[in-house]
Amino acid sequence: RKIAVFASGTGTNFDAIQASIEEGKLNASIELVVVDKSDALVIEKAKAKHIDTFVFNPKSYATKNDYEREIVSECKKRNVEWIVLAGYMRILADCLLEAYPNRIVNIHPSLLPAFKGKDAIGQAFHYGVKLMGVSIHYVNAEMDGGKIIAQKCFDVLDGMTHEDAEREIHKIEHQLYPETLRKLLEENEDEKSVS
Ligand code: GRF
Repeated sequence: RKIAVFASGTGTNFDAIQASIEEGKLNASIELVVVDKSDALVIEKAKAKHIDTFVFNPKSYATKNDYEREIVSECKKRNVEWIVLAGYMRILADCLLEAYPNRIVNIHPSLLPAFKGKDAIGQAFHYGVKLMGVSIHYVNAEMDGGKIIAQKCFDVLDGMTHEDAEREIHKIEHQLYPETLRKLLEENEDEKSVS
């Protein structure tokens, strides 16, 4: 299945998904990486894998739908069927949501619906919760909203630092995202492509 990964930063989840594809565990190919920051590390990572990138500056467009129209066109051009948000720090507008209904997923570093938005790990850690975790969910117009697909949690042990929690979250993400995508693509294998 053809997928596009959207990211704004380091791209460790991109790495994990691509590694899972290369290991033959995930039957998919990343056709496009969409990035909204010209200095994001994920751009070089995609290029090193010879994957097309679409890098845009949101400030150069009058509205969100204006740049999303271009993104949709880049995705459709490559017959992208699923959109995988991996650290993409933007709320989606109608254009993308309508072009890919129930075909856009996101990963968030908290047990949703708790701690939506930025710095979810910091929010949870400072709140002093005893269980932290990761959620994978369908994307809708609300920030970190949409039906939950998978969650995984861990105990926050006494003496655990913010860095320890962060490390644990990323370890879970890098295993849970490829695994959840594998199941999702398999479950939807027979469905016709949306393009
Ligand atoms: C991850 O923690 C993800 O849950 C959040 O943004 C981070 C992206 O990290 N939405 P990376 O760019 O994949 O390394």
